[in-house]
Formats: sequence, C-alpha cells, structure tokens
Amino acid sequence: MNFLKPFTVLTLIMLLFAQLSFAQEETTYLITDFDGNGILPNAWQSYGDLGSHGVVSAKPNSDGKFYEQVWNGSTDEGYIVSQSDITFRLIPKKKLKDKTIDNVFLRLDISCGGAPGTKINIVLVDGPNDCCSNDVNWQYSFVKNTCEWETIEINLAEFGYAYDPSNHEKSININKVGRVKIGVDVFSGTKRQLVQFDNVALVVKDKVAVTGYDPSASIADTNTLKNGAKDFFVGIAVNPSRVQDANYSAVYTKEFNSVTAENAMKMKSIFKGIDSEGNLNLDWTNSDLIVDFAEANGLNVHGHTLIWHESIPDFIKTFTGTNQEFESIIEKYITAVVTRYKDKVDSWDVVNEAITDNSSALRPSVFLERMGPDYVKKCFQYARNADQEVKLFYNDYNLVFDTQKQKGAFEIIDDLMANNLIDGVGYQMHIDYNFPNKQALQTATALIVKRKLLVHFSELDVKTNPKGAIAEFTEKRNNAQAQKVYEVVEVYNAIPTENKYALTVWGLKDDDSWVTPRYGFLDWPLLFDSSFGKKKAYAAFIQALEK
Ligand code: XIL
Repeated sequence: MNFLKPFTVLTLIMLLFAQLSFAQEETTYLITDFDGNGILPNAWQSYGDLGSHGVVSAKPNSDGKFYEQVWNGSTDEGYIVSQSDITFRLIPKKKLKDKTIDNVFLRLDISCGGAPGTKINIVLVDGPNDCCSNDVNWQYSFVKNTCEWETIEINLAEFGYAYDPSNHEKSININKVGRVKIGVDVFSGTKRQLVQFDNVALVVKDKVAVTGYDPSASIADTNTLKNGAKDFFVGIAVNPSRVQDANYSAVYTKEFNSVTAENAMKMKSIFKGIDSEGNLNLDWTNSDLIVDFAEANGLNVHGHTLIWHESIPDFIKTFTGTNQEFESIIEKYITAVVTRYKDKVDSWDVVNEAITDNSSALRPSVFLERMGPDYVKKCFQYARNADQEVKLFYNDYNLVFDTQKQKGAFEIIDDLMANNLIDGVGYQMHIDYNFPNKQALQTATALIVKRKLLVHFSELDVKTNPKGAIAEFTEKRNNAQAQKVYEVVEVYNAIPTENKYALTVWGLKDDDSWVTPRYGFLDWPLLFDSSFGKKKAYAAFIQALEK
C-alpha cells in the first residue's frame, strides 16, 4: 500500500499545522481621534519652527476632526510634534510586560502630502525635548504622493534611530515611548507641503494559540463530518420521508455514517394494537424504511427508543388487564422489536428519560406504575434476552448539569452494570449556545468513561434563541453556537477510543428541527441552514476534530 505514504505524510503535516494553529488577537490603544476620544485626546499641538501652521481642522473626507500640518517654509527642516505630554506612557507598562516591538504597531489614517516627494516623518520620542539632546528618538519615514485617506500600520520594529546615532538607541524600548510626533519634511524649496492625519493608535497584536472555534479557518470542501471523526460514528436523526428525498439522502450519506430514527422506531410508531389472543399488532413500515436505507448505504443504526414516556400508544396507557399481563406485553414488544432488527441495529436506547427533572427519582409513568421500580432493569433484561450482541444504552437529557438527575441516572446505570445489562450511556445534547460550559461537559462525560461504558452524545442541537429574545440569527449567536459545538466535539473526541461510540446530531437543517415547534421560539439549532448550507457550527465540528 505504498501509495498511501504521501497521503499519510501530508496528513501528518496538516495535523501538525492544525496543532499549531494561531489566531491574531488585537488590542487597540487609541491615542486620539481628535474628536475627544483616546488616551490623550486633546494634547496635540503644533511644534517647533512651524508655529501656527499646525491646526486642528474639521473637514470632510474624514469621520470628524483631524490634524493638519502645513509647511510653507523655505528650508528643508521642520516637523510638527503631535502631542507633548511626556509624563505618560502610551500603553500602561503592565500591559506591555511580555510584549516586544514585533507585536506593537502604530496605526493612523493619513492623507495628502500633495506634491510628489512629500516626506512624512513619524517620530517616537522618549524625553522632554524636541530632538536631539537628552531624548531618545526613533523614526520612520515614508513618502506619500497621493491625497486619499488611507490607514497605515507601522510595526515599531521598523523604526530606526533618528538624528545623531551616537546619542540614540537603535532599538526601541516600548516602555519608554511617550510621545508621537508626526510631521512633514520638505525637500522642495518653497513648495507648500501638507499632511493630514487622524485616528492615531498603538495596536498590540498577539498571536494566540487557537483554543476554540476559529471563524477565519477554512474547511476544505472535500472534508466531511464522518471523515473527520476517526474512531466514532457521526450520526444523524432521520425520518422516513427524508431518507427517500434525494436532497437529504445525499447529505446523509456524504456526511454521516450512522442514523437514528427521529420518531419511526418509537413505540407509538410501531405498536398498533393487541388482538384478543394477546398477539401484538406491529407496523414495521416506517422503521423498516430507515433500517433498509441504512443497510443500502452502509450506515450504522442506533435504535431509538424501546421505552419512552412520551411515546406510548393509548391502548397501553389505558390497558385494563393485570400488571402481570401488562409486563408480559412489554416483554413481547421489546423482544419483537429487538429480534426483528438483530444484526441490523447495532445499539438500542432501551429506556429513554426515566428520571424526573431536578430529582433523582424515577419519572412517574405507566411503566413505573405497572411494573414497579425495577421496570428499567426488566426492560434491559428483555432486550438482552432477545439479542446478546446488541449494545444497550440508557439515554436521558440534562445529565450534564442537573446533578440530582445525574445521581438518579447513575444509580440506575450502576445497578444495570452490576447485572451486566448495559453497554453505554446517551447524553442527549439538547443544549444552548452558552450553556453548559466545557468543564461541565468534561466532568459529566468522565462519569461514563470511568465506568468503562460507551459514550453516546445523542441528539445534539444547540439552541441559539432559548429565551426567544432574537428575531433573526445574528452573527454573534452564529459564532457562539459554533464555539459551543466546537467544545462538545472537542470533549467527545478527547475521550479514550474504547469509550467512543457516536455523536449524533438531532436533525439536518435548522428548519427541520423539533426545537422551534416544541419551544415556540424561532431557532437555528443545527449544523446546516434551511437551504442545506453548511453553517459555522458545521465548520466548528470539523475543526474540533482536526485539533
Ligand atoms: C422528538 C422528535 O424530534 C420530535 O419530532 C417528536 O415530535 C418528539 O420527539 N428526546 C428524545 C427524542 O429522546 O426522541 C425527542 O425527539 C427529543 C427529546
């Protein structure tokens, strides 16, 4: 397999770059905008030979006032000092502690210079004087021939010493820089020279290691979610009509390698009645559609869900037989479903959402009522009896942060483990753009890992409008959602391979999501927008895998 080698090397190099990826972080210290803002908004004045030629002007072509210097003289000297208060440092020392001049830039808007050859000097000064004696001066000179306003940035490292080299330091100690002088130098006799400037600032640019989602990084079009995930399934919730829709199925098969039926394998969808002899009437139409689609496309199937309090047919809710008969019906049902999909469904959520919110107690349900507090264990036992190979999961929501619920869930899980009836835990990831935090995700996930069980981050969607406060999907929420997805994937990807199972997204497109109808607020919770476009959350998913 020699042809793989270059690919492997390339992958390694790419991984290395991904590891070393940095983002630019800027801190701007505005010195003045001549409109009253900045560290020294008003201290600028004309200086030296030029006398009154330095004026603050208010002219069009700028965002407000700016500074203008005019040189009308006949000699080739003269520049204007901008501001002259030497008692301050332009950036507080503390903030510069670990900076070098390579990180610091002088940024300003500059215009004119009109005549060809107008030389503009920018001088940084340490000391009370204009020029040469006692002060240390560093200078940057350039020629500006046009009159358009432009923003220039000069790295302090590009400043050289000014005036008498014997009296000046070659390299800048940025802690010393206290003044900025901007002026024109004239080499063309009596010609009138002019420079205008505005928005003078020092900018500290740091390269920071990327610790989260980087909106500027591009994702190759050839990359996919499933290819990014090396040792776990990336799943998608599907339904019968969408697996038959070419627009959807193309993305399902391109991006994902596992499916969960959003509703089609729930009890209400399959279980239609019981005849007089106690035989179950089971409708496999929808569940088969999903399983057949997965089989035809080589996708894993996670079965969802055998028992859930929200999907109980009425005839089960109102069953009039004995508890024993009830239990036997549930056993038959679980047995029939698990048996039908033996070797086709890799894993089952056996019981879904059994614990009450903000409590460790079992949620009241017909199952608890009819089968007693051991009903969860009984259901797992029926599933295990029907298929020794299939992986059995307990699945629930809010387990990351509802500590009471978490406690109750792990009591059940530990009991199932003691009876050798459970393989994994599903944390439904119906979360918000700003909650829960990464630390909480890690801590809660570690509870599964330490039990040596499989981890399923099932049902990922990230609400961006949990309180209904926004009417449209803002850039800010878009980025925040991407960052949250990044954290979820990062946490999942960091667990040991042997604990990994799948990370499943609860729907493809924003407008398909159950969130908006369920919570009544318009939301954008998924990885694809309503036109099948990849969102930032999609890019963040892949970035977190490449990290
Ligand atoms: C939801 C589906 O997305 C909706 O279409 C349906 O109307 C209700 O159920 N927890 C679960 C999922 O375990 O089965 C739920 O799915 C979402 C919450």
